[in-house]
Amino acid sequence: MRTHRIAVIPGDGIGVDVTRAAWEVVAKAGAAEGAGFEGTWFDWSCETYLATGRMMPEGGIETLRGFDAILLGAVGWPAKVPDSVSLHGLLLPIRKAFVQYANIRPHRLLPGVSGPLKAQNFDILCIRENTEGEYSGAGGRVHQGTRDEVAVETSIFTRTGVERILRFGFEQARMRRKKLASVTKSNAQKYSMTFWDEVTDQLAGEYSDVDVTRYHIDAMAARMVIAPESLDVVVASNLFGDILTDLGAAIQGGLGFAASANINPDRSAPSMFEPVHGSAPDIAHQGIANPMAAIWSGAMMLEHLGEGAAASRVMAALEATTAAGIGATPGRDRTDAITKAVLGNLGV
Ligand code: NAD
Ligand code: IPM
Ligand code: MN
Repeated sequence: MRTHRIAVIPGDGIGVDVTRAAWEVVAKAGAAEGAGFEGTWFDWSCETYLATGRMMPEGGIETLRGFDAILLGAVGWPAKVPDSVSLHGLLLPIRKAFVQYANIRPHRLLPGVSGPLKAQNFDILCIRENTEGEYSGAGGRVHQGTRDEVAVETSIFTRTGVERILRFGFEQARMRRKKLASVTKSNAQKYSMTFWDEVTDQLAGEYSDVDVTRYHIDAMAARMVIAPESLDVVVASNLFGDILTDLGAAIQGGLGFAASANINPDRSAPSMFEPVHGSAPDIAHQGIANPMAAIWSGAMMLEHLGEGAAASRVMAALEATTAAGIGATPGRDRTDAITKAVLGNLGV
């Protein structure tokens, strides 16, 4: 039996519950298709930080490098550990170190889920740049605490970074409806975003079969609400993509449905799969988190690992579950009940 070795990092809050659900579904679907999944669980979290002073042990990145993929829940417990410490100590360094530059986030309604919009037939694939831009971590503060204080956060956009994410978007569009939306704020940000527009135009010449439209981020936010069916692949920078994908989650029924894959397209290091949502401290430890987003992320991991049949099995099970009304109404069904229904619908 072929075996995939997975690093499982449940993290904080509801990350723990939804990751357990996703793991059970992935393992069962994999086994049904002749693939074994061997999970190594890491309890790296804000609890770890409080106990040891680190979100992950020294050498944590090198430990992860040996795995075929990483399945992550959520990181952050702001009441006890500042987000600037927890996210920069665990989630963000993994994306960067493993050059997971393409963050893929699908937004569509599962059957039986009624989003807040009249539109039902949208199918958007957001491609978020995941390693640079507004998340470069460059900057600083001077005259801290005084009236003269200045804080600078510099966005860094490299030709390598911009070109590879746009190219990734064009390739995805080619496999879908051949429409690419490139999102910037080049009417206000004259260096980085003008550069992004130029690279978009250069690549458009190479991908003449793809219909490219440039949008400003503000107009795109409105379009995702007013005319989501007009969109196919949407490519955006790190921060803009972050914001648009919570909006995408909202129109697909809520954060409990939004999946994501942090992909290293060159396969030079493991990719990481996690829901778009965070640790949701407001509902943590109550057994009511929706595990669909985590399970869908698990399906994306199966696809990435070459287990397409198992991935289709999981997606079909998710769809059968919501179509039967289970997990379709946010807040109604418990995590365990939804997970049990999905496991039951795997057809094994
Ligand atoms: P959040 O996504 O955790 O929660 C936002 C709202 O959505 C909350 O009301 C929550 O109850 C709800 N929600 C989220 N996921 C849900 C689910 N699966 N089922 C039902 N309801 C769900 O965002 P936040 O409150 O801004 O952040 C909480 C913590 O998580 C912070 O520390 C933040 O930095 C962190 N965070 C981490 C990640 C990640 O690890 N990828 C992503 C986002 C936020
Ligand atoms: C996400 C999250 C993270 C991000 C935070 C927690 C740093 O919001 O994965 O969408 O902004 O990338
Ligand atoms: Mn986010």
